[in-house]
Amino acid sequence: MNQKPNDETQQSVRVALDARSYDIEIGADLLALAGAHIAPHLKRDRVAIVTDSHVAKHHLQTLQAALTHAGIASTTSIIPAGENSKSFGRLEQLCGWLLDEKIERDDCVIALGGGVIGDLTGFAAAIVRRGLRFIQIPTTLLAQVDSSIGGKTAINAAQGKNLIGAFFQPELVLVDTQVLNTLPARELRAGYAEIVKYGALGNAAFFDWLEANGGDVLAGDAAAQTYAIAESCRSKAGIVARDERESGERALLNLGHTFGHAFEALTGYSNTLLHGEAVALGMVLAFDLSVARGHCAPEDAARLKALLEAAALPVTMTRIGNGNFAADALVGAMAQDKKVKSGKMRFVLVEGLGKSFLTDTVSPADLRAFLIAQGALETTEVSREGQRQ
Ligand code: GLY
Repeated sequence: MNQKPNDETQQSVRVALDARSYDIEIGADLLALAGAHIAPHLKRDRVAIVTDSHVAKHHLQTLQAALTHAGIASTTSIIPAGENSKSFGRLEQLCGWLLDEKIERDDCVIALGGGVIGDLTGFAAAIVRRGLRFIQIPTTLLAQVDSSIGGKTAINAAQGKNLIGAFFQPELVLVDTQVLNTLPARELRAGYAEIVKYGALGNAAFFDWLEANGGDVLAGDAAAQTYAIAESCRSKAGIVARDERESGERALLNLGHTFGHAFEALTGYSNTLLHGEAVALGMVLAFDLSVARGHCAPEDAARLKALLEAAALPVTMTRIGNGNFAADALVGAMAQDKKVKSGKMRFVLVEGLGKSFLTDTVSPADLRAFLIAQGALETTEVSREGQRQ
């Protein structure tokens, strides 16, 4: 990973993976300049764009015009917006379309959208003709700081989310901070939770910076957004370069996710709780559990809670839906987590802000008692119906 010197609203972060290394270019209005950034990656002047119905309305024309301006022809597939598009059916359709369009191995496929588009398109690019070339243009804050970087691609299975996929790195990630202006405020805040995560898991100085400047990031200040996104990308790029396939350190990026996924599962992956909101609540619980087990000072947990609360993110389970979560249901959902190894749940805990570690020493009984202390119900009489409100 290295950093190029840049002005306040232009930054470049390198993901160092030997022959598969790539740059994340971050700046205001990069979408309008996409042709110039993409052209050096092309072997012929033709690309395929995959986007969704929402993103197409706001940003497709700008991208197409930028490509045309650079002399690059494009063909576009517009996929229905939403998590349901991460399906076998949609994957089959997309792969068929790429083949019908005669997209060759040396051609680039561009994913223009949020995590769903990036995950689906990346996976299709990984398997069509045993691998096409692939560029990410993430349009949500969450995708800009997390899912577009690091090469995780996947669709969902009946058995769970993201269970069918591949590690497949993009050739370039183009992050335009201006596209965040069209993002609903709630989604911006949910993406901000993932930014806070990088400070909380391994970068205490960045956490301090967010305490002072997080409001500017949320208010749309271009320089603050560029810095926050670049610093997040630097954190992730460093971890991915050291542990691409998550055999160790990369699992720290799941801070808050074991708890968070359980709340997402029990609220039916619905609008009740967005992924970033679940991560916010999950991080608070991970810090509180770390305090309860004597690893972390309560002051650090309080600082995390205050930073997330200032962004109107959920920090207590009793404010999610009707607030009724059975401890046993939560423990059951956590036992299904992808990180379970040899039957043992693995948690990312902390010794303080910026000091995370992995442990498999939290027993289901300890976890249950902790969740009850945090407001989960001892009874198993909570209806799923109630939780889905
Ligand atoms: N979102 C976590 C990772 O990319 O590893």
